[in-house]
Amino acid sequence: MEYIVDRIRRLRHERNAVILAHFYENPEIQDIADIVGDSFELARRAQHATEDVIVLCGVRFMAETAKLLNPDKTVLLPVPDAGCPMADMVTPADVRAIRLCEPDAAVVCYVNSSAAVKAESDICCTSSNAVRIVRSLPQHTVVMLPDKNLADFVARAVPEKRILPYAGFCPTHHQLTVEDVAQARQALPDAPVLVHPECEPEVVAAADFAGSTSQILRRVAEGPEPAFLIGTEEGVLYAIAKAAPGKMLQVVSDKLVCPDMKKIRLEDVANCLEHLWPSVSIPDDIRVRAMRAVTRMMEVSDATLSV
Ligand code: 13P
Ligand code: SF4
Repeated sequence: MEYIVDRIRRLRHERNAVILAHFYENPEIQDIADIVGDSFELARRAQHATEDVIVLCGVRFMAETAKLLNPDKTVLLPVPDAGCPMADMVTPADVRAIRLCEPDAAVVCYVNSSAAVKAESDICCTSSNAVRIVRSLPQHTVVMLPDKNLADFVARAVPEKRILPYAGFCPTHHQLTVEDVAQARQALPDAPVLVHPECEPEVVAAADFAGSTSQILRRVAEGPEPAFLIGTEEGVLYAIAKAAPGKMLQVVSDKLVCPDMKKIRLEDVANCLEHLWPSVSIPDDIRVRAMRAVTRMMEVSDATLSV
């Protein structure tokens, strides 16, 4: 009998596929991926994929973003109901209503949003480039959706802009409290606390660093400290331990689990490669407008990184 990992390797070769996984995925999924990264890095790799098939081991908005950036490829999301509850907190009708109230504002949507919401927005951002994207905009007023906590993080970094937050939030990061941070510090008093900007503002204020999953990983790998307290989804610890062996890592709270990121199993990856299903498709009327917002984000990221 063929082992599951061998079956995936064979099918990946036969299908000419690349497997991309987010840091929050289960360790066995990270292990079979060609690239493990944050949402921006996965989007960038998908944009430049030359393979025929992209398997996106993450949640739906990540697979949709890959499809928007490289529409001729077959993009597979191994478990079709792996979604992001925060992305579902805002609808296209909500964005249209906001535009009526704030006609002069730029609308920036976090990549954690549906393609239909992206289609109503001016530009996308991820947690790693949100500050640079907002700084690049000519408008003084900027609506940021759906994540109110990312909006707060950006508002502090870019005080010259008027940032209007939407009311969405990540149910996983939302659970982390200042008390959790204080308790974790008692156990490891010298360890810096690194959190994701999706955490509540008071948690970000109580931490030593806030950044995307990749930025957290790099802060550990490049920092001189021997121990770190990690305030984001626990899956990232596996990737950090691989990238920075020898560092002591402790998650700030065991509540930091995203159920949707844990849905994909090795069997799902093998099956989707076998059947080329479930594949992502985006209706044409949404695709063209959503692609504009995502492509504009990639262009601003390129321009601001090279200066
Ligand atoms: P990153 O962009 O840091 O990978 O975050 C994605 C995400 O869904 C965090 O909850
Ligand atoms: Fe969405 Fe939060 Fe899960 Fe990230 S961790 S995918 S924001 S629910």
